[in-house]
Amino acid sequence: MRSKIVAGNWKMNKTLSESKDLVKEIKKSIKGIKLENTRVIIAPTYVNLQKVSKSTKKSAIEVAAQNMHQADSGAFTGEISAEMLKSVGVGIVILGHSERREYFGETDALLAQKVDQALKNKLEIIFCFGEVLDDRKNENHFKVVESQIKNALFHLDASDWKYLVLAYEPVWAIGTGETASPEQAQEMHAFIRNLVASKYNSAIADNVSILYGGSVKPANAKEIFSKEDVDGGLIGGAALNADDFSALIEAI
Ligand code: 13P
Repeated sequence: MRSKIVAGNWKMNKTLSESKDLVKEIKKSIKGIKLENTRVIIAPTYVNLQKVSKSTKKSAIEVAAQNMHQADSGAFTGEISAEMLKSVGVGIVILGHSERREYFGETDALLAQKVDQALKNKLEIIFCFGEVLDDRKNENHFKVVESQIKNALFHLDASDWKYLVLAYEPVWAIGTGETASPEQAQEMHAFIRNLVASKYNSAIADNVSILYGGSVKPANAKEIFSKEDVDGGLIGGAALNADDFSALIEAI
């Protein structure tokens, strides 16, 4: 059975002391919540990963990195390798976020390399994709999502898929306050699951968690999360506040 997941992408927010405080608050506020088949993941900035991963060790919270370089090591100033992530206790990495694609020029081809590198190091991947507003307006959204997934993931073996979580994040809904309707999310998630089933098989498609991301907040989470093919959320803004984040975990 696929897991439900609430994952907080902290992006470039929170200093070390703020991160520690937020972890403390999240730990406290999720204490009373029954996490049946539900995973809670947070992705702080690189420099705080080690401390956060230490402080969550005895809790249900898992820690992810927001990015990673595709090479083993070498002269890549400012970059972080898969091995480095593992060495500080991080087992999950977010790849393909639209902000990486848009502001840092990450292409499908580069992301395919990062995916391979993460898998080589047995890191779990939260792989993000999603269309921009023009694609949606021109009704190209299915095509765009299909090519993002095909280009970066469809060279993988069936056995690799146990390391993958998919995150559909329509770019027009990220940080804008505008959310895809629960029906739009369900429609796309069902499309993605069918795509995976037709390339691989229905067992792989049924087992992969597909998260929705884009202005998810306590007020709209229940409705979105209630959709059959929506297995949780990748959360930006609302993950920076413990009460909101735990409300999302309760919602799922
Ligand atoms: P918001 O929840 O702030 O829209 O961000 C979503 C996101 O980009 C998570 O990766």
